[in-house]
Amino acid sequence: NCRILVLISGSGSNLQAIIDSCDDHLHGEVVGVISNKPDAYGLIRAHNHEIDTSCVIARKGEERNEYDARLKVAIDRYQPDLIVLAGFMRILTPELVNAYLGKMVNIHPSLLPKYPGLDTHQRAIDAGDNEHGASVHFVIPELDAGPIALQAKVPVYREDTAEDLAQRVHQQEHAIYPMVVKWICQKRLIMKNGQCYLDGESLGEQG
Ligand code: GAR
Repeated sequence: NCRILVLISGSGSNLQAIIDSCDDHLHGEVVGVISNKPDAYGLIRAHNHEIDTSCVIARKGEERNEYDARLKVAIDRYQPDLIVLAGFMRILTPELVNAYLGKMVNIHPSLLPKYPGLDTHQRAIDAGDNEHGASVHFVIPELDAGPIALQAKVPVYREDTAEDLAQRVHQQEHAIYPMVVKWICQKRLIMKNGQCYLDGESLGEQG
């Protein structure tokens, strides 16, 4: 059984979707949740399912590599097979990322390579895009740039606020993230030489 560790900073609705999809215990189990925010609602979700939690809170003036060293200790305690970033709002150092290459995935609220970074919904609206979405990708040292496992598209309507769009994207995230997690647990999806392979077929350079 695949030991899944989920890292969060906030609401944890993606965490919830993954927990729910693991209910049958057939492919994987969420063995822990780590948050960098002590008041993240996702921690309550974890408690409701009797999942162990840890907080790794950044100290004042702490260097990124010091924080990541502490985070690594917290991660390794769970001996995870898969690390799932689900709204974990910190940039990770290359050292940390390289320690878990091929074992760490992220969900990003845009159709990558469009809009890495923050404020993706507003940026899509401001650009006049008529479609937007979410991407699940393996994590590599470069921010929001790893090989894409799966994307979901949503329409953008003229009267949409960033909030409207975020809600529409979230719904899709809850569908695609558990699917990717399941594929990895089943060893159907892997990252090799900077590319994703699903059932042995390359998914190409960008999804
Ligand atoms: C999700 O929309 C996710 O794509 C985004 O944060 C949200 C977390 O929601 N992640 C990023 O922006 C990463 N840079 P959740 O806490 O309800 O799962």
